[in-house]
Amino acid sequence: MTVPPRVTKAVIPAAGLGTRFLPATKATPKEMLPVVDKPAIQYVVEEAVRAGLDDVLMITGRNKRPLEDHFDRAVELELALEAKGDLDRLAAVRASSELAAVHYVRQGDAKGLGHAVLAAAQHVGHEPFAVLLGDDLIDFRDHLLEQMVEVQAREGGSVIALMEVPHDQISMYGCAAVEPGPADDVVRITGLVEKPPVDEAPSDLAIIGRYVLSPTVFEVLRTLPVGRGGEYQLTDAIQELIAVEPVHGVVFRGRRYDTGDRLDYLKAVVRLAADREDLGPPLLDWLREWLAEQPGAQGAP
Ligand code: UTP
Repeated sequence: MTVPPRVTKAVIPAAGLGTRFLPATKATPKEMLPVVDKPAIQYVVEEAVRAGLDDVLMITGRNKRPLEDHFDRAVELELALEAKGDLDRLAAVRASSELAAVHYVRQGDAKGLGHAVLAAAQHVGHEPFAVLLGDDLIDFRDHLLEQMVEVQAREGGSVIALMEVPHDQISMYGCAAVEPGPADDVVRITGLVEKPPVDEAPSDLAIIGRYVLSPTVFEVLRTLPVGRGGEYQLTDAIQELIAVEPVHGVVFRGRRYDTGDRLDYLKAVVRLAADREDLGPPLLDWLREWLAEQPGAQGAP
């Protein structure tokens, strides 16, 4: 039996326009917005590295400078921190440049996620690879990507991450039709549809921003017609893959934050800060007091 190639490469699309977060994202990619004290994309790179994927390709757009700078050395800053003896901050500054081998490719026009992933074809070659959306955070305590890599090694083909969402919200996501699969939380995908009307959705299982894809997806993407919203949709390409290769879904029941959405972003900042030893206790004390003062709270003026 031939051993399937191990997944070693992570592709992180970060070339979207981030219109939901304007004007903050006018000159800064939304993936660089801070979540507590790290940009969102650093959590995503850390997640890839933890799953054993230390070859990272970022798909960038017109604002690529801050992304490149963040994962590069900052010699002047490092010297200044060293001179001050601020070793904790020095370590934090160095950590992002030492995380992984980070490569960059430009998407050109932001013509959709499918178009962004196709820009990775040359770098990825003929191996299965992971795609992690740069604005989608999976809590570091949940090991989704590791599980997806394992499922891909066992079942071959491609694996996508799914999450159950309230029925009336399914039209905001790609949606999967599924059959039972090899485990309770691993299903076989029989169809995918991007942002279906609620009454046409085949399930309440939404596609979230983690994929382990077979390189066959590039062949499909090369001839893919433009899809919903005038964009090349990765969902449409995976739908075509179902006809030729197995596609499985891992149903994720952990913590996920869409930092490209303003409300979800705020929740991510509060929840991750509340869990921190240094910030959590004073933040929670303040939140309790502040909530008690809000109109409608018990005992509020
Ligand atoms: P989104 O649909 O959330 O990104 O794409 P967007 O278009 O930037 O967001 P809004 O709706 O305008 O606010 C999910 C991920 O795919 C990337 C984005 O950067 C994000 O990480 N993406 C999207 C690309 O890299 N290229 C594209 O053409 C579209």
